[in-house]
Amino acid sequence: MTKKTILITGASKGIGRAIALESGKNNNLSLFARSEKDLNIISDEINKNDNKCIYYLGDIKKEEDIKKCVQNTIDTFGKIDVLINNAGIGNFKRVDEFSYEEFDEIQKVNLYGTFLFSKYVTQHMIKAKSGYIINISSVAGLNGFKSGTAYAASKFAVNGFTESLREDLKQYGIGVSVVCPGSVRTGFGGLDEAKLQGKDYMLEPEDVAKTVQYLIEESETANTKLIELKPRRRFEFR
Ligand SMILES: NC(=O)c1ccc[n+]([C@@H]2O[C@H](COP(=O)([O-])OP(=O)(O)OC[C@H]3O[C@@H](n4cnc5c(N)ncnc54)[C@H](OP(=O)(O)O)[C@@H]3O)[C@@H](O)[C@H]2O)c1
Repeated sequence: MTKKTILITGASKGIGRAIALESGKNNNLSLFARSEKDLNIISDEINKNDNKCIYYLGDIKKEEDIKKCVQNTIDTFGKIDVLINNAGIGNFKRVDEFSYEEFDEIQKVNLYGTFLFSKYVTQHMIKAKSGYIINISSVAGLNGFKSGTAYAASKFAVNGFTESLREDLKQYGIGVSVVCPGSVRTGFGGLDEAKLQGKDYMLEPEDVAKTVQYLIEESETANTKLIELKPRRRFEFR
């Protein structure tokens, strides 16, 4: 199987880390996040296999960091076959409790980060007339919920962005998909291990990684539009 070059944002923790470890078994990776220690450990793990993994330290709110990461990936591998827009943050409270800056930051990371990475990677994919963009959204991109105004707004927007992006890019043979997981056991939104205990319904980051791996290996003449991924009841609660 030919190795793909996969660029993953938010690869230092949680779902992004699991996607990197799964897809890095057979592919070359370029990882983006701010936490050097975490990225270093993951890239060492991938480099142990016969695959190459590089990382770029950057803040997804900064367009210049995104441009440099994409260029660095092209300079190293000469191509980007798959972009996985995974970096994301959450902040959950009633609308009147949000400052403009807090609400804005969620849109900048979740929506504008997805837009800017797609913008700079797409230029290379159009030239190559192939590629695949996978956006990690959420069930919050399909249903609103209490205290979810800022987060759901960003994820509904990611879903709408994805639908339209697919229409823009299908003529070049570029696939575009969105994955909408339910709750996943990560440190997302400041959740610590103690708070994650005792949850009877919860996905593992590896569950999402397996779904993404399925998409990466999808036929080049097909395009899954959207996957809504729900947890099954955990074994200990059955
Ligand atoms: N956990 C859930 O229940 C759940 C459910 C559905 C969807 N999701 C979505 O899945 C994605 C991953 O979430 P997760 O649960 O894995 O969260 P996580 O464990 O908190 O990881 C978030 C990742 O995003 C990166 N990131 C955040 N802000 C960034 C910034 N300004 N610049 C660069 N990177 C940044 C973090 O890297 P650094 O901190 O190192 O920069 C980290 O790698 C998000 O889009 C989230 O909305 C999560």
